[in-house]
Amino acid sequence: MIVISNCKNNKNELFDMSSLPQHLAIIMDGNGRWAKKKGFPRSMGHKEGAKAVKRVIASCLDFNIPILTIFAFSTENWKRPKKEIAYLLKLFESVLVKEKANLIRNNIKINFIGRLTDLPTPLNDKINELCESTKKNNRLILNIAVNYGGRAEIVDAINSIILKIDKKNLNIDKINEDTVSDNLYTYNLPDPDLLIRTAGEMRISNFMIWQTAYTEFWVTPVLWPDFDKKNLIEAIINFQKRVRKYGGKI
Ligand code: IPE
Ligand code: IPE
Ligand code: MG
Repeated sequence: MIVISNCKNNKNELFDMSSLPQHLAIIMDGNGRWAKKKGFPRSMGHKEGAKAVKRVIASCLDFNIPILTIFAFSTENWKRPKKEIAYLLKLFESVLVKEKANLIRNNIKINFIGRLTDLPTPLNDKINELCESTKKNNRLILNIAVNYGGRAEIVDAINSIILKIDKKNLNIDKINEDTVSDNLYTYNLPDPDLLIRTAGEMRISNFMIWQTAYTEFWVTPVLWPDFDKKNLIEAIINFQKRVRKYGGKI
């Protein structure tokens, strides 16, 4: 146990290193609002948001959280102005190149979830290259959701199930919840224990809608570019006070 002093209510709180979320998921929201507040273009918010990603990865390594999934670009984000989309895709590409050595040094395995084939080829190439170079790493699994939508993922799972039935690799009478889980992009991962959303919106915005059935939610007003280790500790302390019942009786 580590005692953390909470400046907000002047109380000391316990941060239990033995009961951390094993899979942490984050909807990184509020880059635009952060920039607007400061009188900057939205692109500055995204650039600063990339620094917050580095901070949260470092915190997961410090706490030995084994899986982190971050929502970077949704299937609905294509509705944004072309200029913003182009900036974001270029930013992803440059961050992947710049951080490659760091990720390898820290023994981080990178995995991408989403409809990756719809992304520009240079970005897709860098994604494949990074996944390939980190596939044997095992300290932290970092899942990056790009061109990701929970509904698209379920549609893709249905199509992959149909294909398996067609090829006689799956018996139509044997379809159950595990069949669906096993055909999602996250087939090899446990469901998230804790989902953090920054910037205050209390909605799921099409993120991991199947996997979060029993995930604990934490919404903070902090805008993503400002999110730091202190904010993560606050979310985890709250998570540790929850009673997870999964519909049962405690
Ligand atoms: C999150 O910040 C980043 C992405 C969705 C790509 P936003 O860009 O959504 O920021 P707000 O919600 O406009 O403040
Ligand atoms: C969710 O944020 C998507 C990502 C963080 C990538 P949005 O900003 O797109 O969500 P809405 O539009 O507020 O629901
Ligand atoms: Mg937003």
